[in-house]
Amino acid sequence: MKPLHGEIRVPGDKSIAHRACLLAALAEGESFVAGFSGGGDNHSTLRVLRALGVEIQVDQAQGVRVQGRGLRSLRPSADPLDCGNSGTTMRLMMGLLSGQSGTFELVGDASLSGRPMARVARPLGRLNARIEMRDGEYPPVRIRGHQLEGARVETGVASAQVKSACLLAGLLARGETTVHEATRTRDHTERMLRHMGVTLVERADGLALRPPERLAAGHFEVPGDLSSAAFFAGAAALVPGSEVVVRGVGLNPRRIGFLHALRSMGAHVEWASSARLDPGGEPVGDLCVRGPTTLVGIEISPHQVADMVDELPLFACLAAVAEGPSVVAGAEELRVKESDRIRATGALLRTLGATIEDTPDGWRIAGGARLTGGHVQVEGDHRLAMCAAVLGRTVAGGAVEVDAPSSASVSFPGFFEALERLR
Ligand code: S3P
Repeated sequence: MKPLHGEIRVPGDKSIAHRACLLAALAEGESFVAGFSGGGDNHSTLRVLRALGVEIQVDQAQGVRVQGRGLRSLRPSADPLDCGNSGTTMRLMMGLLSGQSGTFELVGDASLSGRPMARVARPLGRLNARIEMRDGEYPPVRIRGHQLEGARVETGVASAQVKSACLLAGLLARGETTVHEATRTRDHTERMLRHMGVTLVERADGLALRPPERLAAGHFEVPGDLSSAAFFAGAAALVPGSEVVVRGVGLNPRRIGFLHALRSMGAHVEWASSARLDPGGEPVGDLCVRGPTTLVGIEISPHQVADMVDELPLFACLAAVAEGPSVVAGAEELRVKESDRIRATGALLRTLGATIEDTPDGWRIAGGARLTGGHVQVEGDHRLAMCAAVLGRTVAGGAVEVDAPSSASVSFPGFFEALERLR
């Protein structure tokens, strides 16, 4: 196998861009969001905001101008609000729309229509939100917006989307809202709210938010998406002698669990998170990964899951060929992502010749596989399409054909071309 070399930049962070656009819409005046990914999911957020009456321009360099008209300025649209494939769009919108005036309906594509929403509706109900779902769980989601009341809520599941929906609803509530999460998840919403001047106090019983009078418009700079960079890091780690550098990537401590895992597997991984904090308070820096002679299997325990939740299918791909067994436990959340990622990743890897057993909350992976080429099904899941392409470009003995390569554009338009450019 020829070592891979290259220096790349990846599209802007999907999670951060959703939040920047939503908060910009609630601010007063024009905001600019630089580094917008251009991926399908982020465009779903823009589409929904436009349908709610927000004026938005996207310029060619993928910067977005949002004309915010205030905290309670969103207006019901005649048609259902289409969140596409984007769970973050739908769940964050649930929080935001609960405190607006009027009735709203959120819909999504086939994958999103099968994803659970009661996990968001339940804590929002504590703030007095009125939300109905198909079978009490699934989209379409109908929201009757009205004045919310601040309260203390537990997120229940380890989910940044649930936490963020509660914080966004808290912006519109009367009185203080306290959000408690048993497991820490990505804190992009908190960092951004503080950047916009909102008072958030860390207390023993949770994170307390005092609703502001107004939000000031501003300039947001979205760093590169670590979850997109991970595919290049993974590719480098799979081929001895490789060296790949990713410039300007977000290095939020709650997002870099995969980098720690790569190190434990024996890869050489360096990042300079101290390089700078971007204007929104997110750590950003360069990442360098070098492929070791031998990659070894490791165990991922439940407490490590939240910090690498989107990278676990990729981890399984690396573990399949690493020396020795690997185990992932406590990752049952993967069953309700864009696909059932435990089942779909297991099936994908078995198609290519790996020995991997699906468990209720992860996998047991034998390691040491010599992967073949093959035709794989990714169930329309962007991250699985990119996993398959990484294996095809690195360790698979033959071509790996993906049934739906276009799914990658949900988070990473131009992914396949970028992967090909590694030399
Ligand atoms: C996200 C949170 C995670 C993650 C998703 C993006 C976010 O989902 O899997 O890709 O932007 O808050 P959960 O909140 O369901 O864990």
